[in-house]
Amino acid sequence: MADAITAVFDTVAATAPDIRAGLSGRRSYGDTENPSGERQLAADEYADELLERRLLALDSVASYASEERAGVTESDGGTYHVACDPLDGSSNLRSNNAMGTIVGVYDEPLPASGRSLVASAFVLFGPITTMVTAREETATESVIEDGQRRAVTEDLRIPEDPTVYGFGGRVPDWSAAFTEFARDIEQTLKLRYGGAMIGDVNQVLTYGGLFAYPALDGAPDGKLRLQFEGNPIAFIVEAAGGRSSDGSRSLLDVPADGLHQRVPVHLGNETLVDRLEAALA
Ligand code: F6P
Repeated sequence: MADAITAVFDTVAATAPDIRAGLSGRRSYGDTENPSGERQLAADEYADELLERRLLALDSVASYASEERAGVTESDGGTYHVACDPLDGSSNLRSNNAMGTIVGVYDEPLPASGRSLVASAFVLFGPITTMVTAREETATESVIEDGQRRAVTEDLRIPEDPTVYGFGGRVPDWSAAFTEFARDIEQTLKLRYGGAMIGDVNQVLTYGGLFAYPALDGAPDGKLRLQFEGNPIAFIVEAAGGRSSDGSRSLLDVPADGLHQRVPVHLGNETLVDRLEAALA
């Protein structure tokens, strides 16, 4: 298994410079929507096609699914099922802010429970390109240079003293309980919200804190997708010593009932996620 996971991580790292290089000419929206009803940028489709082709070319990868396509694409052999958000936060491309790529490696056909994840990773396209990987309950942060990973933090841990928070959705659409919790959190933590989950979660991994895209009035499952966003990021945050929650349980325990199902997402320091669950109970 170790070599197969390394091959997936290496392929994603090798593809990151190509995705990055392709961004500048692909900032406009086309006429298409993804299966969640969001407008697709040319860059979304470009990154999706690159990742699909390169990941399915690996002997160990049995299938590929992404936020940008309705169904699962299968290969002839392989053991692992890869779920990608090829460009998380791609609406930030117009304003030239951070975005990322998310990859979850499951050992069950998709849609699958987060407990079937054997590894996950994200690439953050910021001023530099970094990659956080998680496997065997250990998270590692690397810098990507020339398509190669160079580890900079082995055994990445969420700092114990949290300092930042970022909550998505319009405040009037939050529940009363979440709004009250947010008012409380604002007393001690500093707001960091950039509109790309990867960028915002990486702030939490770096400084400690809490990220949430909660249930909304009219959208009780929030905005983020379990297979492509919630599960892979929960796997990383939990490997880094943090917690994830849909409001009452780890995201990894949420039953998988659809490839594009949404889920409320809360991630960060254990103490803060515990407080959040108590506030929402
Ligand atoms: O994939 C959806 C996404 O772009 C996330 O990366 C991000 O957290 C969220 O949407 C931002 O949504 P909003 O524009 O509602 O703040």
